[in-house]
Amino acid sequence: HKKLKDFPEGFLWGSASAAYQVEGAWDEDGKGVSVWDTFVRIPGKTFKGTNGDVAVDHYHRFKEDVALMAEQGLKAYRFSIAWSRIFPYNMQEVNEKGLQFYDGLIDELLANHIEPVVTLYHWDIPQYLQDDYLGWESRQIIEDFTTYAETVFRRYGDRVKYWVSLNEQNVFISHGYLMATHPPAVKDPKRMYQANHYANVANAAAIKKFRSLGLDGQIGPSFAYSPGYPIDARPENILAAENFDELNAYLWMDVYAKGEYPSVIWNWLEENDLQPETRPEDFKILKAGKPDFMGVNYYKTSTVAANPLDGVGIGTPNYSGEKGSTERGGIPGVFKEVLNPFVEKTNWDWDIDPVGLRIALRRINSRYGLPILITENGLGEYDKLKEGQIHDQYRIDYLNDHAKAVQEAITDGVTVLGYCTWSYTDLLSWLNGYQKRYGFVYVDRDEDSPKELKRYKKASYYWYKEVIEQNGKNL
Ligand code: BG6
Repeated sequence: HKKLKDFPEGFLWGSASAAYQVEGAWDEDGKGVSVWDTFVRIPGKTFKGTNGDVAVDHYHRFKEDVALMAEQGLKAYRFSIAWSRIFPYNMQEVNEKGLQFYDGLIDELLANHIEPVVTLYHWDIPQYLQDDYLGWESRQIIEDFTTYAETVFRRYGDRVKYWVSLNEQNVFISHGYLMATHPPAVKDPKRMYQANHYANVANAAAIKKFRSLGLDGQIGPSFAYSPGYPIDARPENILAAENFDELNAYLWMDVYAKGEYPSVIWNWLEENDLQPETRPEDFKILKAGKPDFMGVNYYKTSTVAANPLDGVGIGTPNYSGEKGSTERGGIPGVFKEVLNPFVEKTNWDWDIDPVGLRIALRRINSRYGLPILITENGLGEYDKLKEGQIHDQYRIDYLNDHAKAVQEAITDGVTVLGYCTWSYTDLLSWLNGYQKRYGFVYVDRDEDSPKELKRYKKASYYWYKEVIEQNGKNL
């Protein structure tokens, strides 16, 4: 083994959450309704019909949660702002109470020497924008998202130094418009690429706005990157892996970092009459709205093989597949996902692959040359509370191996600003209820009842405390 470099001084050892998954208080203090508030009420959409009405009640218990972070020595906490708390009913009237909630959270973090990392958008667009003009499918979203972003930049920009623009555009767009598993539950690739284009321009317009305000700080998107591997060295499978990364990664990250679509993908979109309507000024905005860093959410890799024109399509189990499924869906003529026999799987059938994180960081570094902020990485499991304790050694192993992979990438020469685990407390896993847990802090609730929402420190809480104290020297 080669000698590893130390993590840099000031490395952001963090952890993350998202408004809808933790806050609860879904209609308090003037909050409006988001598409998720509506979607979860449609029967059959989520596990046992769970919703985030109460979630883990972070809205009322944030001081208790921040105290746990402080005791652990956490350096950064990534959370998202609920757009529908800030502009509940329209894009003209700002809800002061909504703004005050995040003032309180940010101030509490800073008082405890924890860097706030603020996500502008983690999937919860206000319902009225969906009703008025189909949300991300309308050009109007560019202006409205920028207005919302500017409002929060101006309010918190004196205190917040790290901003995440869109969280996992690739996930909310593909689940929302292709697989129909997230709102607005559409299955239409043409509409998907159009919504995606407006999301691209909105993302860049918000970054451009951030720059124009002259605020001190950094901003970038968070991208869900699952690097593609070929199943073997057969050239057609290598090509399928190239296709996979073009379509699942470069299609998004090239637009963020270079302000343009990859030519192979644009060509493929045109061949299939899927290209979005664009205007020349869109590309000016894309070029002007470059990020300071690439945010990366990493959970797993994907292994692929060639897929004939009459081969498997989308709809078979894939991203949230069932345990043991061998066929994971694909795009005919482009690629199909297959089982990787060389890696372990989680109970949700996600490949456990720390080397894949090093590969992800290396690829992003060599393609874009941007610093990287790991905005999510973690393991969802069925934790069990026994006599007030949670022995989540499996999570410690997972996080330890992934943090070590980050150190290896740093040793390779990649600039990594920080590592945020997913998640801080247990929280609502959008479609999987409360049984799929990710936190350092166990929250005693389930699908049937919020119970008392009592917090318990898991074994991984103490492990991470030690990692932070030693700046990763004990990994
Ligand atoms: C990411 C999201 O996709 O993965 C999080 O940004 C999400 O919000 C996390 O919770 C884990 O996904 P899941 O489906 O296991 O909750």
